[in-house]
Order: sequence, then structure tokens, then C-alpha cells
Amino acid sequence: MEVRVENGGSYEVGKSGWVNLCQFQDGTIISEDLADSLEFPVIDFSFLAKGGEDEVQKLQKLHLVCKDWGFFQVINHGVKEEILEKIKAAVAAFFELPFQEKRNMQWQKMKQKDMVKTLWSLSTKSMIGFKEALEEYSREMQKLAEELQANFSVLMGLKRDGLKRLQGGGLKQGIRMNYYPICSRPDLVLECSPHSDGTSFTLLLQDDDVTGLQIKHNEAWVPVKPIPNSLVVNIGDATEIQSNGMYKSIEHRAIINEKKPRISIATFMFPDDEQEIGPVETMIDDQNHPKLYRNIKYVDYVREKFSRKMEGKAHLQSY
Ligand code: SIN
Ligand code: FE2
Repeated sequence: MEVRVENGGSYEVGKSGWVNLCQFQDGTIISEDLADSLEFPVIDFSFLAKGGEDEVQKLQKLHLVCKDWGFFQVINHGVKEEILEKIKAAVAAFFELPFQEKRNMQWQKMKQKDMVKTLWSLSTKSMIGFKEALEEYSREMQKLAEELQANFSVLMGLKRDGLKRLQGGGLKQGIRMNYYPICSRPDLVLECSPHSDGTSFTLLLQDDDVTGLQIKHNEAWVPVKPIPNSLVVNIGDATEIQSNGMYKSIEHRAIINEKKPRISIATFMFPDDEQEIGPVETMIDDQNHPKLYRNIKYVDYVREKFSRKMEGKAHLQSY
């Protein structure tokens, strides 16, 4: 459903009644009421097959969701609530350190290695448990990601370990923690501008009670209302390329909230730098699905992507 808004206010949408729409600076948005009725996809992970005859049939929902939305929330993912709570608390504790203390660390000037060291030393002083929480969370994300990758392999007509083999090994992982402070005029601020992820896929843990993430669906921005203890999964550029465009890396952005700060923790899963990515053979057929993307070393793809301005999916589309 596409809703375009000129000046905000109430508009009639189809025959379903009235909804309130709020306009942001740069275009269209679907109100939360309407977004609820759109049924943002939820995947029950316990339902995903671990092999078996009816595997493809069971994966049908995942297939449709990745094709039509490129984004879903996963429930029953097997990661203990306690682990999610621990990492959220640890990240909140870090962001709540006095501004001066964080500022004194001069993050911008640090090499990545030193940043990690500083973070670890911090955890011994002011944030006991930070390192453990992060490591535990990271291990759980790796397990979940590998299981997801096995499912994507089957959907692309490969064996469960097909993508892993093609990639010459497991997925790499990077974690980014985001903090969005409150702002009295959130309509004027876009904290994280529209982009698609350059990953294979991303796993996002977000606060249960603050909506900030929005995704582009049918040309409108749809807010992703968090389901407690769920994780948001989104297809990244590498999977769009490998699936020859079947599964979409969707543009998304984050906005900030008027009343509550928001924390999100993004776990990026991606191929090894030296790995060549390209549409897998099983997804190409010259008549109906000709090869849409060229093959490229992953590190070169990322380099090209980041050498441009972050502008939605511009890079992938020109690819
Ligand atoms: C991101 O896409 O990098 C962040 C999304 C979010 O904070 O919800
Ligand atoms: Fe992102």
C-alpha cells in the first residue's frame, strides 16, 4: 500500500477508514496505526526446518518475506532473554557514562585495535561485565547467523552449507552500538540517514519500547515496532547480489524520539574481505533470471560503496 502525504493531517486510505499520518522532512511515512495493520513480517525461528523432507515448504514463508520485505522480526530464536538484557544493560551503562569521560577517550583518533582495548579497560573500571556480555552476545549472534545462512542456502537451491562453502568459511561479524538521544524536534532530525547494509545480513537488537527504525516498503517509510525479545533481521547487499536480486537489501533509516533515548545493537554478518561475491549459479537462468550483478571481491564492493555518499540503495542499483 502506498501513501503519499503532502502536508500531514488525516487522509482516507482505501476503504479501510481514516489514519493519522505524520510527515517527515524528506517524504512519505506510514503512521504506526497503519503499519500495525500491514503486519510487519514475523518469523518463528523454532519453526524453521533443520533439514527434513518438507524443508522447502516450511521455508516458503521466509522466502516470501525476504523477497517482498527484505526485513523481518525473528521470535523464538533460542537466544536467552537474560543474554539480551545483559548486553542492553551493558551498552546503556556505557552510553550513560559522563559525557566528558567518553569524550576524553578521543575515539575518532584511535585505531580500531586501541578502541577495543579502551573499551575493555573501561569495562574493568566502570562497567564490570561489559566484555563478558558482549562476548556472550556475539557468540549467540554467530550461531543464529549460521543457522540463518543455512536456510538462505536452501532457499537459493544449495545444500545447507552451500553459501558457507562458496564463501570459503564462516561469516565474519562486526557489532555496532547506537545511541539516539532524545530531541524535542525529532521531525527535524534524521539520526541515521537512509541506507542499505553492505552485509550478507544484519541482526538488530533494539529497545523494546521505543520505535526508531523505519524501512522503505512500497515507497513509504514503515516503522518497525519492536516485539520484546525479538531480533530484527535484514537482508544486506551481499545476499541481494548472491540471490541475483531475488532477496532484497532494503533501504532503512533511524529517527530519534521526543521522549525516550533509544539504543540499538547491530550485528553485521558479512563474507571474508578476499571472497568474491556474485550471483550463485542456481539463481541464474538466462531466459527468466539473467545475471544482474557482476562478480567482485567483497572488500572491493565495500570500498566502492563507502567511497560514495550514503544515498539509500544508490550504489547497489547502479551496480
Ligand atoms: C542502522 O541501520 O545502522 C541502525 C538502525 C537502528 O538503529 O535501528
Ligand atoms: Fe543499517
